Amino acid sequence: MEVLDVLEIESEVSLPKRYSELSQEEMEARILEIKAKFGDRLFIPGHHYQKDEVIQFADARGDSLKLAQICAEMPNAEFIAFCGVHFMAETADMLTGPDQKVILPDLRAGCSMADMADIDQTELGWVKMQEIWGDTILPLTYVNSTAAIKGFVGKHGGATVTSSNAKKMLEWAFTQKERILFLPDQHLGRNTAFDLGVPLEQMAIWAPIEGEFIYDGDFEDVKVILWKGHCSVHEKFNIKHIENLRKQEPDTKILVHPECTYDVVQASDYNGSTSFIIDTVENAEPGTKWAIGTEMNLVNRLAQENPDKEIVSLNPFMCPCLTMNRIDLPHLLWSLEKLEEGEVVNQITVPEAVAENAVLALNRMLERS
Ligand code: 13P
Ligand code: SF4
Repeated sequence: MEVLDVLEIESEVSLPKRYSELSQEEMEARILEIKAKFGDRLFIPGHHYQKDEVIQFADARGDSLKLAQICAEMPNAEFIAFCGVHFMAETADMLTGPDQKVILPDLRAGCSMADMADIDQTELGWVKMQEIWGDTILPLTYVNSTAAIKGFVGKHGGATVTSSNAKKMLEWAFTQKERILFLPDQHLGRNTAFDLGVPLEQMAIWAPIEGEFIYDGDFEDVKVILWKGHCSVHEKFNIKHIENLRKQEPDTKILVHPECTYDVVQASDYNGSTSFIIDTVENAEPGTKWAIGTEMNLVNRLAQENPDKEIVSLNPFMCPCLTMNRIDLPHLLWSLEKLEEGEVVNQITVPEAVAENAVLALNRMLERS
């Protein structure tokens, strides 16, 4: 049975050979044709980290919060071809109506951070946390998490957060309970809590694989429990990059995403969400210089779209997010051609029992954003 499941998934992700033989122009022309044919029945949201070849077809570009909000207000689109990663497509499915179908053009477009929090580990960890702290903890999860984790959080009165509202949501969470469990990104959790005045000594780390806390203080002092997860893209910026840049280009401003480590965020000039990074660069004075610590497709696009400023990556050897990059022209075209033939491939559907609680967590965030 397990083998069959694997084969079924394989057959959905392997692209027919003819897509590797089409030229870029041919693929672009076909996508435009299909988009025109479907009109309002088809909606293509695109995350800012997507490749240029894909983002050019997005009906709306945004960060994860904006795309979630847009999908929630898109009642006419019968099909949503989500150009982003799996957890974003799950969110879109949960926020749209039962007749709307969400498609992820390549099922391999996951998120390694979201995979770092597994629901079974979370349930086990929660039991240990309840034993130590009793009913004093509210769980918050970054939207970069599976629907099951969002469901867990929703069931326990908590909410989702994105990098653009994490501060506001953490403030709200502290009005509900004495302590916060923050999943799955320890860096966003730590950076945001520190910004709100929680000292590092009051933050414990929960290591889910080892099933233990990393903390050497008094448990009674803990205010924030950080899940030991991270983004493998944003962890590639380090303090050495900042020191080198400060020496070589002292008038370059450093702007990083809060998924970067605490020391990188502290040593930078500015930090904030994807939309904050875009707004800061767009509103900066002509002639200013910026080194940016975030995903490479976005940094390259900012450089192209702001030729009056000097924009580089904080890490000169940075690669794009590999899973975001799974969505490419051949996969987008394939999923749309299938749709044209009347077949919905790679549909993302969150089971009703999970979605029920996950939507509670999402709505608690959307109401406050
Ligand atoms: P945003 O919430 O800023 O869109 O970020 C999503 C993401 O995957 C960051 O790595
Ligand atoms: Fe996930 Fe990091 Fe890629 Fe964002 S950049 S999708 S958090 S792996």
